Amino acid sequence: MTSSEALYKDPLGTAQKAADEIGERTGVAKHDIALVMGSGWVGAVDALGNPSYECDAHEIAGFLPPTVEGHSGKVRSYALDGDTGPIRALVFLGRTHYYEGKGMEPVVHSVRTAVKAGCKVVILTNACGGINTAYKVGQPVLIRDHISLTAASPLIGADFVDLTDLYSKRIRAIVKAEDDSLQEGVYVHWRGPAYETPAEILMMRTLGADLVGMSTVPEAIAAHALGAEILGISLVTNAAAGVTGEKLNHEEVIAAGKAAASRMGALLKGVIPKLL
Ligand code: HPA
Repeated sequence: MTSSEALYKDPLGTAQKAADEIGERTGVAKHDIALVMGSGWVGAVDALGNPSYECDAHEIAGFLPPTVEGHSGKVRSYALDGDTGPIRALVFLGRTHYYEGKGMEPVVHSVRTAVKAGCKVVILTNACGGINTAYKVGQPVLIRDHISLTAASPLIGADFVDLTDLYSKRIRAIVKAEDDSLQEGVYVHWRGPAYETPAEILMMRTLGADLVGMSTVPEAIAAHALGAEILGISLVTNAAAGVTGEKLNHEEVIAAGKAAASRMGALLKGVIPKLL
């Protein structure tokens, strides 16, 4: 057994260990809200001000070093003002993806750790391709629901979790009250790492999907299964394959994220105080 296999043999125990380490390092016994910052979203956290603590995530039990550009692999703790009192936010800059081939456990370890650290709300951000032709590059879209085309679940065993309100209606209403131009859409989880073909995008549109990306869905399921409320926000960084005829590349995804960082940061800063 490799050391990473050993760490994930008891995934919730490893998440608890990681949460305890975060508590010791930050001096914060309980965090309230977690944010996972996806490709192109790292600049948006600047809006939250200076963190009270930062380290490389892989110094903490169960976290792997980052392998994707745009994912810095840091964990930060922030002390923020909420509408009903202080809020402690735990921020993960970057994530492990299912396409990295390391299994599901490392993909969902950050959100499991966050819930074990006390977080009741988990905000999942990502970069995505726009399947819905009404969407523009640089537009944030709230995830209303998802379709898992990987059909891979982070849950093992007879854990029949209800997903009818996976992307919390309560939280979506708060976010839309903050910015009434925001639209909602259905996100498809595509394994990647290759982007989709135009025929696959046509299939997804036919199935009722608006957005496509390579993350978020396993984390949403794992965090919800532990009782957290989920907000998913996708940033449309490109038109999905075949929509414009342009080829897709990761650089444009990162560039679109950079261009939208201050708007996304203002949105997060505006809504976080209202979520608890
Ligand atoms: N497809 C899948 N994942 C993505 C895309 C896309 O077009 N853009 C950003 N992440």
